[in-house]
Amino acid sequence: MRVVVTAGPTREYLDPVRFLSNPSTGKMGFAVARAAAERGHDVTLIAGPVSLKTPKGVRRVDVTSARDMERAVKAALCGAGESDALIATAAVADWRPAMCAKRKLKKSQMESVLKLARNPDILKGAKGVRKVGFAAETDNILAEAARKCREKRLEFVVANDVGEAGCGFGTDTNRVSFVSADGSVESLPLMGKLAVARRIVRRLEGR
Ligand code: CTP
Repeated sequence: MRVVVTAGPTREYLDPVRFLSNPSTGKMGFAVARAAAERGHDVTLIAGPVSLKTPKGVRRVDVTSARDMERAVKAALCGAGESDALIATAAVADWRPAMCAKRKLKKSQMESVLKLARNPDILKGAKGVRKVGFAAETDNILAEAARKCREKRLEFVVANDVGEAGCGFGTDTNRVSFVSADGSVESLPLMGKLAVARRIVRRLEGR
């Protein structure tokens, strides 16, 4: 199958030297891309700014902002069908500065200049393919994951508790649950991100 994976953070510039972002390192997404390529799938990895090596056999597209990432996902999914998949691991910034100044802003200008605009929801907007989302939560993890699954029409959500040690941004391990729209849950033990990635790919293949 054709598999498109989003990974890493996005950066939303407010002037040439400052941006809004988050601490995502892209490890989970790169592991998913590697796991899918190992299984012989045709993999495109759309990565925000991260410092990781491209996994073997994976086509990589580097992007900066959420809107760049959305364009790259659309291009990668062009002609894709119901047997193809989008696996969205990226920590996409939900907001961007409404305007990006061409010249560096002075700190005295910040409060009056900085207004925010909503970014597109890349995963929700993707149509006609199988979709897997991620949910990083600190509260009501399983209920929130099931809600996202329904709202974004996902096959399943990979939910994790980012408040827990060994999980979340920058770690090499993760403890996740696969949550479906009907609320059914498969919980995995703490394991390496590559092992989690292989379980995600197998679950998609197993349908
Ligand atoms: N996602 C996306 N585009 C966005 C935001 C999120 O593709 N603009 C994807 C992420 O890659 C992830 C899932 O959607 O797979 C996360 O869902 P989201 O509702 O954005 O999670 P939160 O930002 O945690 O939302 P909330 O604040 O509602 O909990």
